Amino acid sequence: MISNTFRADLFDQKVAYIAGGTSGINLGIAKGLVTLGAKVAVVGRNPEKAVVASAEICQIKSDYAIGLSADVRDYDAVEESLKQTVDHFGPIDFIISGAAGNFLAPVVGLSSKGFKTVVDIDLIGTYNVFHACFNHITKPGASLIAITAGQAVNALTHQAHVAAAKAGINQLIRCLALEWGPAGIRVNGISPGPIAGTEGMDRLAPTPEIVENLTSRIALRRFGTKDEIADSAAFLFSDAARFITGIILECGGGVDIGDASPDCLVTLSR
Ligand code: HXC
Ligand code: NAP
Repeated sequence: MISNTFRADLFDQKVAYIAGGTSGINLGIAKGLVTLGAKVAVVGRNPEKAVVASAEICQIKSDYAIGLSADVRDYDAVEESLKQTVDHFGPIDFIISGAAGNFLAPVVGLSSKGFKTVVDIDLIGTYNVFHACFNHITKPGASLIAITAGQAVNALTHQAHVAAAKAGINQLIRCLALEWGPAGIRVNGISPGPIAGTEGMDRLAPTPEIVENLTSRIALRRFGTKDEIADSAAFLFSDAARFITGIILECGGGVDIGDASPDCLVTLSR
């Protein structure tokens, strides 16, 4: 459930387009926005998955969601899905660019195509979504969020492809915030920490031992929830954030600030 800090009618009459919104964290954001009154289009490659996701959201409020199919690597398909959203719900107020691909691979085990695939989905995909949305969003007033990750800033082995792609997203956010601020458009990012029950964490932390080890390094000593990322998105989309643009909001229980493991202290005191 989204936090009851927010008024239930906060986003009445608002329309959101969520690339990568058919599962995981972004579906959680979609549900949170609908709970607060927005209508949403959730977009992914797999059409059946999109239909299932929109049906799930419509159980919160019927007719408040549509599921669309588009690959973010295909500019024309993204453009078409934006048009479909406007035809169905009207001009778009909120954009989430959250489609991503990830797998663990050392650089020597990663072909050029493997590296490019992740850069194409995460970085070029975000460029496509943000570039194509310009003619379909409310101006002034629209608010855009890209979903990035800690790897953008903190290097990690077996994650060169994701780190490079997400670092590019962070700078794209800042450049667009500068270029589109004068038009009254805010552009920000959310960097989630490890979020429980997601494909991303199933891939990066596949065993209980790895989960336990990772948890011991997080200041708040737990993984986050999809609802907590939805809360961050609701804040950034809300009027309370009206003077905030070009930031990357860390929502990770302190995972980004350093290693909170007691083992770390033992090592230091030796
Ligand atoms: C090495 C790999 C690989 C692996 C794929 N490739 N998996 N290389 N190790 N484990 C290589 C392939 O060999 C191929 O290169 C190239 O990548 C493209 O593979 P395809 O399968 O053809 O790509 P595609 O069908 O487009 O699928 C994209 C995908 C896939 C990224 C590979 O995993 C996917 O669709 N993922 C979406 C779901 C997902 O990843 N969700 C998690 C997001 S979470 P060659 O040269 O062999 O042809 C996330 C977390 C971030 O981003 C941070 C968390 C803290
Ligand atoms: P997920 O469930 O796998 O969600 C990925 C979404 O993107 C799905 O809707 C997927 O649907 C869609 N997608 C993938 N490739 C696409 C493409 N080429 N075109 C269009 N849609 C595509 O992943 P998640 O773990 O919730 O992660 C969501 C976001 O949070 C990602 O940006 C990820 O990098 C970020 N993140 C996650 C974590 C975490 O703990 N999970 C931590 C930090 C950051 P289809 O497969 O049908 O296309």
